[in-house]
Amino acid sequence: MHSELKVSRIGTGIKILDEALPEGIPRNNMVMVVGEGGTGKSVFLLQLMFSRLSMGEPCIFVCFDDTPLAVEQNAIFFGWSIKEYVERGMLKFLDCYSFRMNPDKTTIPKYVVYVENPRELYQLTQILTGIMDDMEMHGRGCVFVDSLTELISITEPAVAIETVKTWRAECAKERLVNLFATFHFGIKPYDDFEQILEYVVDGIIDLRYNPILMQQGLLVKQFRVRKMKGSPHITKWFTFHITRNGIEAAEESSH
Ligand SMILES: Nc1ncnc2c1ncn2[C@@H]1O[C@H](COP(=O)(O)OP(=O)(O)O)[C@@H](O)[C@H]1O
Ligand SMILES: [Mg+2]
Repeated sequence: MHSELKVSRIGTGIKILDEALPEGIPRNNMVMVVGEGGTGKSVFLLQLMFSRLSMGEPCIFVCFDDTPLAVEQNAIFFGWSIKEYVERGMLKFLDCYSFRMNPDKTTIPKYVVYVENPRELYQLTQILTGIMDDMEMHGRGCVFVDSLTELISITEPAVAIETVKTWRAECAKERLVNLFATFHFGIKPYDDFEQILEYVVDGIIDLRYNPILMQQGLLVKQFRVRKMKGSPHITKWFTFHITRNGIEAAEESSH
């Protein structure tokens, strides 16, 4: 193979996830993190982001489910200090949540781009690509979206899916900027859209509670790399806990 045709891969920085992806994730992949509420999707995204920042790469976090402040506070809880990266201009938030509460625009910090109307998807894409270009994200860096479920719920689902396709093209394919996005599984009206997105994206990480232990009333988290284009991966379920240090391997039970 021509070396120019080879897309470089990058480790996730999450130890137990790197075990499942021994050669990393190709830079031209969009990856979806799918699971029920509380299984750890947002923590996965946050830790992926902090790892990327620690590697010296710029990141954009697109918040649909919560405010940038809440995301920052969550990071602090885990001891992931993002202040330094914000100050160095390596991290920007795209706030697609606060339009609900008409915030005082004079108090919005410089590293937050407030989106007046996130339902205007064409404009939203323009804002996102503009920031990527400003941050010189090409062949490096990462975009995070939490969550696609919310994007679909506030807009016309078919248009939202077209937008996801556009983001995949603009970030992952054109700029070689990885795109990680969450999807809440189990919301009936949107389950069909999840299936459509499954074939759109390049990689899927499933999160769940161990089904056998759940019957006994225990919620033990597991993840599995279901799909990862362009990179070998182990597809078994890995058991993990969320501790003060984030995602950590748990002792395998007999199940
Ligand atoms: N700031 C936090 N403090 C304590 N536990 C947390 C915190 N953030 C997340 N967790 C733990 O991680 C779990 C998964 O959270 P989250 O990633 O938000 O789930 P999801 O996004 O899949 O709905 C929570 O149920 C909780 O146990
Ligand atoms: Mg979440």
